[in-house]
Amino acid sequence: MEREKEYISILKEVNQKSYAPYSNFKVSALLVTKSGKIYTGVNVENASYGGTICAERVAIFKAVSEGEKEFDRIYIYSTDKDGNHKITPPCGFCRQVMVEFSKDMKVILVGDSEKVETDIKTLQPYLFDDSYLV
Ligand code: THU
Repeated sequence: MEREKEYISILKEVNQKSYAPYSNFKVSALLVTKSGKIYTGVNVENASYGGTICAERVAIFKAVSEGEKEFDRIYIYSTDKDGNHKITPPCGFCRQVMVEFSKDMKVILVGDSEKVETDIKTLQPYLFDDSYLV
């Protein structure tokens, strides 16, 4: 994909902004909209643990709050407490938020020694959406 190198470089740079004093697991996400804009996010933890939000949802909510609702892809990167960068799949809450907006978006898990390209259709089959809210 065109510009992917640049996106991954931004994704890694932004990882340092993660606020994760409790888990020491730093996550960053970079969302690309269908219109070609990018939005980044990091996980933001809280002393009241349930107040924590994942990097993916921060990126998506930033985009939605600026009027963007159609997403082409999201990149995800993490740094664990030992400084390793293994691939990290998105949690269930984040998958649910992804399908709310873009049921065909690609999800790219970036690690230092591997990169996995999948999509939300694969990660979230048999999903719940507004069609059940009759
Ligand atoms: N986390 C994310 O930000 N995204 C994921 O895909 C998995 C988990 C965060 C939430 C919490 O701050 C930390 O990682 C440990 O669960």
